[in-house]
Amino acid sequence: MALLEIQGLTAFYGDFQALFGVDMTLNEGETIAVIGANGAGKSTLLRSISGLIRNAPGHIRYDGREIGALPAPDVVQLGIAMVPEGRRLFPSLSVEENLLIGKYGRSGNGIWTLDAVYDLFPVLKERRHSPGTALSGGQQQMVAIGRALMSNPRVLLCDEVSLGLAPVVVRDIYAAFPRIRAAGASIVIIEQDIGQALKVADRVYCMMEGRVTLTGAPAALSREDIHAAYFGAHTQ
Ligand SMILES: Nc1ncnc2c1ncn2[C@@H]1O[C@H](COP(=O)(O)OP(=O)(O)OP(=O)(O)O)[C@@H](O)[C@H]1O
Ligand SMILES: [Mg+2]
Repeated sequence: MALLEIQGLTAFYGDFQALFGVDMTLNEGETIAVIGANGAGKSTLLRSISGLIRNAPGHIRYDGREIGALPAPDVVQLGIAMVPEGRRLFPSLSVEENLLIGKYGRSGNGIWTLDAVYDLFPVLKERRHSPGTALSGGQQQMVAIGRALMSNPRVLLCDEVSLGLAPVVVRDIYAAFPRIRAAGASIVIIEQDIGQALKVADRVYCMMEGRVTLTGAPAALSREDIHAAYFGAHTQ
């Protein structure tokens, strides 16, 4: 049985329909990547899983139970944590306070403590008393990931962790993922850099205009297929 199973998921913002019957599976221990152009519905998918937007019930199963109608705090409590688009740190709080916030939603069993997060991202220990706003973009992203890990999630949802960061910083951030996996988390990564997505993921989902247009293991996907699924066949 899959850890997370999404079937026929739709999502709306008012009258605007953003998802049209999305199917997706995340198996225990797996890392999957979701790629797609701006507005494809990637963030809406993650917001639906994490309970931040309301969806029709009956389309999201996690660990054998239906969670599609649960509010966000309950979803966190069950072990699904999100690293949101844009990082969303609390600007008046220090690095350490921002990290500790992640523990309040859930302090599940697992290896992730303040010390473990500092071991993963040593620069955060040096800067632990600095306000979140005094950090570089890459350091802020590390705090956002660390904050999510502090709940010891079984599922980690990451929305565009590399956006706007220099390649060397992106490399540092992605270097953390093998350790996050090894600690037992199953991971969903949203990534606009297709090369990065293919490198990190066991399976990739491509979305376009609110639908999944392609899915498979990286080695099974051709550049042509990805291009067509990402931009639409007619634009080639
Ligand atoms: N709060 C909102 N209110 C109304 N429409 C929204 C809202 N958020 C997103 N949308 C619309 O829903 C669609 C999907 O947006 P979403 O943010 O999920 O895309 P995305 O794939 O994450 O894009 P990006 O790569 O730009 O982050 C887009 O057409 C977007 O304009
Ligand atoms: Mg988005």
